[in-house]
Amino acid sequence: MPRLAELYFKTAVIFFIIGIGIGLKMAISEDHTVIGAHAHCNLLGWVSMALFGVYYALNPAKAERRIAMIQYYIYTAGVVIMVPSLYMMLEGNMAMEPLVAASSLIVFVGVLLFAFVLFSSKSTISAPTPQPMR
Ligand code: HEM
Repeated sequence: MPRLAELYFKTAVIFFIIGIGIGLKMAISEDHTVIGAHAHCNLLGWVSMALFGVYYALNPAKAERRIAMIQYYIYTAGVVIMVPSLYMMLEGNMAMEPLVAASSLIVFVGVLLFAFVLFSSKSTISAPTPQPMR
């Protein structure tokens, strides 16, 4: 598997653990105030990152491109900033609002870069390697 796909899966599972942690905290405390942080951690962190990982696993040539690695760093930075700042904002710390706004724009740039990688021509969905006849 390409290194970038592995990196995406490893990052995704960390957000999965944190996202479930927030979900359990809400369920146990019966206080769902931070529902937005839970949902974004799971969907931008776990689900979307795992999908990026699947895409790069199927397109190893694209995973080797520098722009793909840049896309990983930008998107991940956005989610890393968004989840805690959104959590704190929902808990009532309104000083976090500019950080939430900035991080959502960073995530959006990451998604636009992914679209750029996806639509660019260098595509190789690897076909199964032919096996010698016995
Ligand atoms: C053990 C795992 C999980 C627990 C304990 C948990 C817990 C919760 C709780 C307590 C709520 C608030 C419900 C409400 O106030 O209506 C919630 C909402 C939500 N959860 Fe989870 N969750 C878990 C896993 C996940 C996963 C894996 C995802 C996505 C991949 C997810 C996505 C969402 C979304 C989108 C909402 C908002 C739903 C709405 O507003 O109607 N959750 N979760």
